[in-house]
Amino acid sequence: MLNLTQTLKKHLEDALEQAFPEIVAIAKVTGFPVDPQLVSASKPEFGDLQVNGALSLAKTLKKPPRLIACEIVKQLKQNQDFLSLCKSPEIAGPGFINLTIQPQCLVEEIRQRLKDERLGVPLFKNCAKNQPSAEPIIIDFSSPNIAKEMHVGHLRSTIIGDSIARILEFRGHSVLRLNHIGDWGTQFGMLITQLKEEAPQALKQANVVNIGDLVTFYRKSKKRFDEDEEFQMASRQEVVKLQNGDPIAKQAWELLCEQSRKEFQKIYERLDIKLTERGESFYNPYLEKVIVDLDSSGLLVVDDGAKCIFLEDIKGKNGQPLPVIVQKSDGGFNYATTDLAAIRYRFNKPPNGDGACRVIYVTDAGQANHFAAVFQIAKRANWIPTGAQIEHVPFGLVQGEDGKKLKTRSGETVRLRDLLDEAVIKAKANLRSRLQEENRKEDEVFIDHVATTIGIAAVKYADLSQNRVSNYQFSFEKMLALQGNTAPYLLYALVRIAGIIRKGGDINIELNELQFTESQEWNLIRELLKLDEVIVEVEEELLPNRLCSYLFEVSQVFNRFYEQLPILKAESQYKNCRLALCLLTAETLKLGMNLLGIPTLERM
Ligand code: ARG
Repeated sequence: MLNLTQTLKKHLEDALEQAFPEIVAIAKVTGFPVDPQLVSASKPEFGDLQVNGALSLAKTLKKPPRLIACEIVKQLKQNQDFLSLCKSPEIAGPGFINLTIQPQCLVEEIRQRLKDERLGVPLFKNCAKNQPSAEPIIIDFSSPNIAKEMHVGHLRSTIIGDSIARILEFRGHSVLRLNHIGDWGTQFGMLITQLKEEAPQALKQANVVNIGDLVTFYRKSKKRFDEDEEFQMASRQEVVKLQNGDPIAKQAWELLCEQSRKEFQKIYERLDIKLTERGESFYNPYLEKVIVDLDSSGLLVVDDGAKCIFLEDIKGKNGQPLPVIVQKSDGGFNYATTDLAAIRYRFNKPPNGDGACRVIYVTDAGQANHFAAVFQIAKRANWIPTGAQIEHVPFGLVQGEDGKKLKTRSGETVRLRDLLDEAVIKAKANLRSRLQEENRKEDEVFIDHVATTIGIAAVKYADLSQNRVSNYQFSFEKMLALQGNTAPYLLYALVRIAGIIRKGGDINIELNELQFTESQEWNLIRELLKLDEVIVEVEEELLPNRLCSYLFEVSQVFNRFYEQLPILKAESQYKNCRLALCLLTAETLKLGMNLLGIPTLERM
C-alpha cells in the first residue's frame, strides 16, 4: 500500500516527534532515522497495518513501550488528516499499534494501481540523496567452469541470481550481472597437456571435440595429475606458459573456452538468462598487486614458503587461526586470490573498477567459509568502502527424492540439459492427457509452446519457492502438479483470470464506479495491496521464496473470491468492480512471475 503507507508513515513520524521531541536529537547522534516500523498486520483481526516502533524505542527513550504507544496514539487522534485515512488506532500487547485503513482509501489505492504499470511498487531512492543511486549493484551468479559440465548447483545459482537481479532492476537499481566463469588456473595446464597427447587437433581448431569429450579429457587429466609426477610437471609448465602469454597455449585456452561458452549459452537461452561474462582470467593482471598490497598493509605472513593471511575469529579444527593461502610456494595463485582481486576491482571507482555499492555472490552454502574468509581479508585491507555492502547469498543442495545428492539412475551427475529436456517431456505428457480429458484439440505448435513454458517454469519455480538456504528435493512430479505451490498452479490461475477478463469486456475503473461489499472482495483487495511491501522485503533479504509465497497466497485468495461470488453473472455495478479486481490480480501475478523469470500464458 505504498502511497498510502508512505503518507501514514509520515504521520507516524510526526506523532513520534511531537510526543517525544528528544528523539530528533537522538536520531542525529545515532545516525538512524526515526522509524515507526510500519508493517502489514500479522493477523487480519489486528487490522491492516501494525506499528512496531514503540517496542524498539523503549530502550532509547528509557520508557515502557506501552506508554510510548499511548503517547503516539494520543497525537494521532488529534490529526484529522490521519483520521481520514485510518480508523481509530488501537494499542495491543506490549505496545503494538494496530491500524485499520478506511475502506474508501483502500479502494482509491486499488484504482491508482490499476492505472500504474508498476502496480504501486516505488522506484528505489537513495535516502540521503532522494534519487536513484547511479552506483551499480553487482550480482555474481551462475559462474560455471570451463571444460566441466554445468551442474544443478549452477542451475540454482543461475535461477536464484537471475530472479534477484530482476527484482533489483525493477526497483530501479543499475545491476551488473557478472558470470565469474572458472576459466583460469591449473586445470588448463592439465587439460592442454592431456589434449596434446590425445587430440592435438582440438588445441588448434574449433569444434574438434564436443563438450562431453572435453569433460572426459578433463577427468582423465585430473586423475593423471594426481598420480603421475611427470604429467604434473608438464601441466604446471603449461600453466606458466599460459600465464606468460605464450601464443600457442593462449590459442588452445581460447578454443577450450569458446567450446564451453557455447554450451553454457544454450542453457542460458533456454532459461532466458542474461549475463555478462567476466571470468577469473580477467583478474589475472591484478593478482600480483593483491599480494603486494596485502604485504604492505602488514597482513601477509610467509608460512612454509606460501604467502598467507591468518584469519581473525575463524579457527581451524586444531583451534588455531586458519590461514588463507594467497600465493603458493611455487608462485601460483588461488581461487581466493582471484576473488580478492575481484572485490577490489568491483568496489574501485571507474575507470579502474566498477564502483559498485553492493556486491552479491550467489553460490552453494559449501562456499560460505571461502566467502567469509575473503570478505574478512578485504575488510581488514580496507578495500570495501564505508557504506558499501558485500554479501554471500548461499543456497542448499539439490537432492533426489531419496534425500541424497541428485544422481542419474546409473549414478552419474545429472546434466542440466537432460534435466530441462525431461521437464519439458513430462509437461508435454501431462498436457496431452489433460487435453484429452477436456476433449480439446490443439495443434502441435500450441502444445510445444505450452509444454516448454510449463516445463521450464516448473523447474525455476520449484527452486525459487523453497527457502534457498535449505536443501531441496527435486521431484518432477511435485513441480509439475496442477495443485499446490507450483508453477502450473499459478499459470493456470492466470489463464483462468485471463479468460474471465476476455469475456468481461471493457472495465471502468473510475472511483465512483468502484464499490465493494463482500468480505471475499475485501480480502482480495488487502492481499493485492501487499505487493510493494513484499518486493521491498525481497530486495532487502534476497529471498525470492517470499515473492513465491505471496503469489501463491494471492491466487488462493482469488480462487475463493472466484468460487464464492458471481463475476460475469453479477449485477452490472458489481460486475465491473469484480472485473477490476480480476484485472489487478492478473497484473499482479504477471508482474510477480516476470520478476521470478517465468513467462506466463494466455491459454494452456
Ligand atoms: N566457479 C565457481 C564454482 O563453480 C563459482 C564462482 C562463484 N563466484 C566467485 N566470485 N567465486 O563453484
